[in-house]
Amino acid sequence: MPEPRYAALLGTGRYLPERVVTNVDLEEILDTSDQWIQERTGIRERRYVADGESGAMMATAAARHALEMAHLRPDDVDLIVLATLSPDVCFPGNGVYIGAELGIPGTPCLDIRQQCTGFIYGLSLAEAYIRSGRYDYVLVIGSEIHSSGIEMAPRGRDVSVLFGDGAGAALLGPTTDVNRALLGTWVHSDGRHAEELWTEGPASRKNPRVAADDVANGSVFPKMNGQKVFKFACRHMVEAVKEAVDAQGVQIADVDFFVFHQANMRIIDFVLKALRIPESKTHCNIDRYGNTTAASIPIALDEAGRAAMIPPGALVCLAAFGSGFTWGSALLRWPTGEGGTQTANEQEGV
Ligand code: UT7
Repeated sequence: MPEPRYAALLGTGRYLPERVVTNVDLEEILDTSDQWIQERTGIRERRYVADGESGAMMATAAARHALEMAHLRPDDVDLIVLATLSPDVCFPGNGVYIGAELGIPGTPCLDIRQQCTGFIYGLSLAEAYIRSGRYDYVLVIGSEIHSSGIEMAPRGRDVSVLFGDGAGAALLGPTTDVNRALLGTWVHSDGRHAEELWTEGPASRKNPRVAADDVANGSVFPKMNGQKVFKFACRHMVEAVKEAVDAQGVQIADVDFFVFHQANMRIIDFVLKALRIPESKTHCNIDRYGNTTAASIPIALDEAGRAAMIPPGALVCLAAFGSGFTWGSALLRWPTGEGGTQTANEQEGV
């Protein structure tokens, strides 16, 4: 019998633009208030890119950070999976630019569009490719630039205050040791709710796909039915965690650490309460970065890992919900640092 082959997390990385935009900075422009934003979302500030920073550039920086942790080189990478809802250009996707910036021509790439659940969908692809033996080393990256796509006027304030820019990455590779493995991923979608959180244009189903009045009529800006999305997020995040632990035959209390998509602190608080998870078992950074959609889980995972908040060998659960609707979860064993290329928990302040 051949030895079982699993995918393991070998390294994580992140990139956040330096430009900090506080709630107070948005007050005048969006007819909002620091108090409203903090009370409704938990956000205090977010990062916006400066001229010269692109989604591919941030993704490449986060990927290099993850490769360094794994003691691997760009030319070890067999596949790049890039999750984003905000590609640098309409086509081609950012994956090809990341391959070019990493200096690995010929390496295949996939761009995926599962919004806030994109990183977990990316992990599910890495898991399948590595377990099947097709590839050894897969980079999964979430990278977003929201600041250039949100409506910076009072009409868009309900959405515009929520989002920030950034990138996070994970490098996965093969292991035969289940105690260091990505144990499973569980992903879902329900397109009946596609237009509850979406950006309509540019829309190829319309001809022409970009019209002169699209900015004035707002169709190029994100729109959300906030209360409905909030309710579905609470429900599906709880279900996603339960699905992961049930599939592995463990209890919620057996999970040592949770990293949730950072959409709203009230959603995370609801999940913690509903599942009786102590706050000490999670790491939140929504106050500093807002919602970075596909980048939010890998950024938080990297921060928590590098700050040694996750014990070696810990059972870690990730869960996300977002536009589509899409949602999902993953369970993994946190790298131990012994043998192979695994060197997590490098000390670093968050
Ligand atoms: O990442 C993908 C998943 N995304 C989510 O899970 C987000 C889910 N939704 C939410 O987080 C919340 O629905 C929001 C934070 C977006 C909104 O919070 P809410 O408690 O649902 O507020 P609301 O939409 O019911 O609006 C309440 C009031 C309204 O005023 P009136 O009608 O009561 O007078 C809004 O016009 O707040 C007003 N409002 C604002 N006021 C100041 C909406 N946005 C703002 C704003 N600043 N930015």
